[in-house]
Amino acid sequence: TDYDSSPPVYPSPNATGQGWQAAFQQASNFVSQLTLEEKAQLVTGAPGPCVGNIGPIYRLGFDGLCLQDGPLAIREATYASVFPAGLTVAASFDRDLARTRGVDMAQEFKGKGAHVALGPVAGPLGRSGYGGRGWEGFSPDPFLTGELFAETIEGMQSAGIQACAKHYIGNEQETQRNPSVTKAGETIEAVSSNVDDRTMHELYLWPFQNAVKSGVASVMCSYNRINGSYGCQNSKTLNGLLKDELGFQGYVMSDWEATHSGYPAADAGLDMDMPGGIGFVTQLPTYFGPNITAAVNNGTLAEDRLDDMCRRIMSPYFLLQQNSASYPRVDASSSGLNFFPEANYAFNYTLGPANVDVRDDHAQAIRELGAAGTVLLKNLNNTLPLKTPSNIGIFGNDAGEPTDGLYFDGDGDLGNVGFEFGVLPSGGGSGTGRFTYVVSPLEAIKNKVNSYNPKALVQYVLNNTLVNQASGYSILAPVPPEVCIVFLKTWATEGYDRPSLLVDWNGTALVETVAKSCPNTVVVTHSGGLNVMPFADNPNVTAILAAHYPGEQVGNSLVDLLWGDVNPSGKLPYTIAYNESDYSFAPIENSTALLTTTDPNAWQSNFEERLLIDYRHFDYFDEPVQYEFGYGLSYTTFSMSNLAVTATGSGYTALPAKQAIAPGGNPALWDVLYTATVTVSNTGSVAGAAVPQLYLGLPQPVNEDYTPVKVLRGFEKITLQPGASQTVTFSLTRRDISYWDRYTQQWTIGTSAIGVMAGYSSREIWLNTTVTPLS
Ligand code: NOJ
Repeated sequence: TDYDSSPPVYPSPNATGQGWQAAFQQASNFVSQLTLEEKAQLVTGAPGPCVGNIGPIYRLGFDGLCLQDGPLAIREATYASVFPAGLTVAASFDRDLARTRGVDMAQEFKGKGAHVALGPVAGPLGRSGYGGRGWEGFSPDPFLTGELFAETIEGMQSAGIQACAKHYIGNEQETQRNPSVTKAGETIEAVSSNVDDRTMHELYLWPFQNAVKSGVASVMCSYNRINGSYGCQNSKTLNGLLKDELGFQGYVMSDWEATHSGYPAADAGLDMDMPGGIGFVTQLPTYFGPNITAAVNNGTLAEDRLDDMCRRIMSPYFLLQQNSASYPRVDASSSGLNFFPEANYAFNYTLGPANVDVRDDHAQAIRELGAAGTVLLKNLNNTLPLKTPSNIGIFGNDAGEPTDGLYFDGDGDLGNVGFEFGVLPSGGGSGTGRFTYVVSPLEAIKNKVNSYNPKALVQYVLNNTLVNQASGYSILAPVPPEVCIVFLKTWATEGYDRPSLLVDWNGTALVETVAKSCPNTVVVTHSGGLNVMPFADNPNVTAILAAHYPGEQVGNSLVDLLWGDVNPSGKLPYTIAYNESDYSFAPIENSTALLTTTDPNAWQSNFEERLLIDYRHFDYFDEPVQYEFGYGLSYTTFSMSNLAVTATGSGYTALPAKQAIAPGGNPALWDVLYTATVTVSNTGSVAGAAVPQLYLGLPQPVNEDYTPVKVLRGFEKITLQPGASQTVTFSLTRRDISYWDRYTQQWTIGTSAIGVMAGYSSREIWLNTTVTPLS
């Protein structure tokens, strides 16, 4: 069947250097000077000052490679910024801000002497809202993710840092992401994400194709199995899809301890083993290292393959001129923060100064993006923006200062519960950051209020339990506030899936309790993904803001929106349905039977919903939802007119055969075959940014089912003054209008009409037309 096997694809394609020929030449020259032992060293992680380290070869002027987490900050660092999460970037629908964030983050990684940043994330894509790491990535929509993934990668690499597109692929749940061992000592294998070929191409692989097209330096293979075969030794996904079909020229590194063999993994397409040692913090034993040397010597691993691994690793290093004498050395404070005891170091690392402050003026861009990725879901009676209220009530454990420190680890004694008191600006695990400060909402609101009325009341209760127990706040905030702002949060972290889609800490009850006495209740969530909101239609809840994970400026980003200094322009990068049970179409596998299984192969996650995740599901089955994908309010209003679709160039021609391996796959897939234009007008009274969106209704191919009703294929964010209009152009590539034909193994344009829909959300379509490419 589609699900239970992953076809063998061998041999591993050799990189040809397409896209970075000069760097590939330098890499080839370098590799030609290496001994076999040095080659084995170059492909094997070793204990050192960074989260991942490749040892130096000083005789050739190579200082080694420093790999550092993660997707929203250099995590294990002092004096570094913590940026908004990928989820916030997705909600901003803003390509420019995504790119700027990539540049800014890369400057910080580089300033700390890192060569490789372990991000961004497009796996998980977000099949399930319960996934613990969804917030590290962008959106369950592959187009939105693909565009912002690419912007981030290009931004990072333009600033001289190698990006790492992770986790490849199908890493959609945390539960049993790694093998476990029963009490009887038997190994239970990691969950297998079982994905059919069309779904693989149209959903999960899609953003990685963008990443390869953008020239991403590295890809991290994932912990899980895919169709029965481990992510880091899956020849179909690594040799077949990534290196052959997509033409990837960089290197594949394993996730930390995701390597389960030596030369078989190398033959399947793995180029670098991280962190190297099987025992994590020690160099030996290892699947790679001396075993790679032995495998070459005894003829089981071709030296040609090892050379290819080395050339792939060295090409981006030369491309980004990381060999330059002026490249910063690894910050000496990094050693103490990463998990390798210095006694275990196998090399003498030459470190730079400690505690280099790399934050620069990035706080301003962080503040801006934090606001841009906050979605205004409800705004009755123009409650927002606030005017100059002289009595504000603040409720909830997410409003104040973090009380458990500035590192939201998630591995502490509390396990998977986050922190009770304090604002949550980021999730936990390797995708978090070490904050140097957090501007809490309470602090920012007090500052704001003080600026217009130093005598105004800001009454607050930050203990959810207390307010719920007292079934009200009146004793705690005796003068009835003009506006009550309730702060809610949802913890999410690597290693665990979310237990619920509700907000944490009885936050749902807190809203109801406050709203009972306060007819002007504004709700703010800081959440690592979607929340169902049973309070959404409560008439006393006058406004709702989904503020995601905005990073260190969390309070300021919010105040800018609350008082209208910034007009909300975030859009939902996922769907908020009415009930948790509405999401049962794409379950996390975590049944009690599985948790106690003795069958090594029991953990199977069949992606039976195929293409129908998130809005693709709700639209296909015509189910009502609370707030749909793409939705978000503004303080102004927009109209849309004049949808026109034009064939560009010669229009449709049959898909030309792939000429040569090129990053991104068949180059013809990126040809723009149509452009669509719409006119966007600001019909309100304040300036604001609109996000016009283009959806396609692609025809159902022969012998296929479950084709989505519509899929996002264009978006732009444009700022308009009141009364102003602008024409927006969307480019539609061949891939954009094709489906993946599993019989011919090609992207193929369907034979009937394509619906073209333009609007302001997946369910607010203003204009539509059709095109029929084959007519
Ligand atoms: C495991 C995580 O899955 C990955 O994202 C991270 O980069 C490594 N650990 C290193 O911390």
